[in-house]
Amino acid sequence: MDFSELVRARYSVRKFRAQQLKEEHLNAILAAGRAAPTACNLQPQRIFVLRGEEALSRVRGCTKYSFGAPCVLLVCADTEHCYVRKYDGRPSAEIDAAIVTTHMMLAAYALGVGSTWVMSFDPARIREQFSLPAAWQPVALLPLGYPAEDAQPAPYHAERMPLDQTVFEFCPKEE
Ligand SMILES: Cc1cc2nc3c(=O)[nH]c(=O)nc-3n(C[C@H](O)[C@H](O)[C@H](O)COP(=O)(O)O)c2cc1C
Repeated sequence: MDFSELVRARYSVRKFRAQQLKEEHLNAILAAGRAAPTACNLQPQRIFVLRGEEALSRVRGCTKYSFGAPCVLLVCADTEHCYVRKYDGRPSAEIDAAIVTTHMMLAAYALGVGSTWVMSFDPARIREQFSLPAAWQPVALLPLGYPAEDAQPAPYHAERMPLDQTVFEFCPKEE
């Protein structure tokens, strides 16, 4: 699958087979995240691999959206070890972690592994359940697994705004 095919074909998979994720697939997904660009290459992503009943039941206590996946990645951003923009003090950690997550989501799909980016979780509970250091911000949960035979994109999956509503050519006003 070439890249444009991949980004068009990918969709949020919300129904998984029970089959465990192959170790080689998990490693390839994590390697794709590792290859992601981060500000000043500081790599503030901190990723927990959550597998097994104990870890997954803790995930279920933090979100409705784990979809019975056999593996969930908890992607955090270390806000103490990231670039900070000098002009306004804005830290890069969450942006970096989001780019890492995107790399992993796309790499997963290319390997036949489905995922859905999940932001709807209780961050305080995540912090407590997974003993996150104070400076680690939970950014995303990424349930991973092999799509169920009848997995389907959500009906609104293909609804994308026309480019002219999201992309603008800057035209300086004439004086
Ligand atoms: C930042 C972010 C947060 C999201 N949070 C959730 C979530 O909590 N639960 C969920 O089911 N899907 C979640 N999604 C998936 C989106 O709903 C989905 O990507 C979007 O509707 C487009 O559909 P598609 O991924 O199938 O193209 C999230 C996606 C992003 C990028």
